[in-house]
Amino acid sequence: MKKINVAIDGPAAAGKSTVAKRVAEKCSFIYIDTGAMYRALTYKALEQKIDLEDGPKLVDLLLQTKIELEPADKGGKVLVNGEDVTKEIRENDVTNHVSIVSKHSGVRKLLVERQQQLSRQGGVVMDGRDIGTHVLPNAEVKVFMVASVEERAKRRFEENLQKGIQTDLEKLKEEISLRDKLDSEREVAPLQKAIDAVEIDTTSLSIDEVIAKIIELIEERS
Ligand code: C5P
Repeated sequence: MKKINVAIDGPAAAGKSTVAKRVAEKCSFIYIDTGAMYRALTYKALEQKIDLEDGPKLVDLLLQTKIELEPADKGGKVLVNGEDVTKEIRENDVTNHVSIVSKHSGVRKLLVERQQQLSRQGGVVMDGRDIGTHVLPNAEVKVFMVASVEERAKRRFEENLQKGIQTDLEKLKEEISLRDKLDSEREVAPLQKAIDAVEIDTTSLSIDEVIAKIIELIEERS
């Protein structure tokens, strides 16, 4: 299969990372979770009690922060300056603050550069909010995954239950809606469907059905 680039965007908890990881595995492409980069910086900023509204301070912090994403087949860990933060970056505190950190243009500029560097060789499946519109505008396949907020909250609720974490479904719904609002209304690279992206509504589709649709697009275009 030709080493093309695949951009997968969409709102919070739409199942992008699960699907992107499996698509990458099937095509022997590299999966890149850009959200993990914004989360890693947010984790560091919270740890150092940096004002999340202070863009230049966050940029300084980012310049001193080495973020490594291990390939999925090597464990898929997220390391920050060598520290394994895979679990920590998924915790509520990070999740509920990451959209503030990611709105700053300086932060985005640096992370987008890193993301573009990682995809230079092609053969990448990258998920995020601005991949099809800004990071990989020339990606051969662009997908915009959507699902109702009820369905996304329900999936996250069940995922948490399986991990033994009890959550409040209504609160999850509110948190997901707020994150979507912040990500869609920010000035720099807001969450938006690229004009040439194929929208997939996953509300009533299984993960396997979504994967099959994306593989079909990859086969068509490679
Ligand atoms: O994909 P995930 O939910 O882990 O992303 C966490 C947050 O990181 C998003 O809510 C968004 O604020 C930010 N993000 C972004 N651009 C990306 C990926 C994530 O702004 N390409």
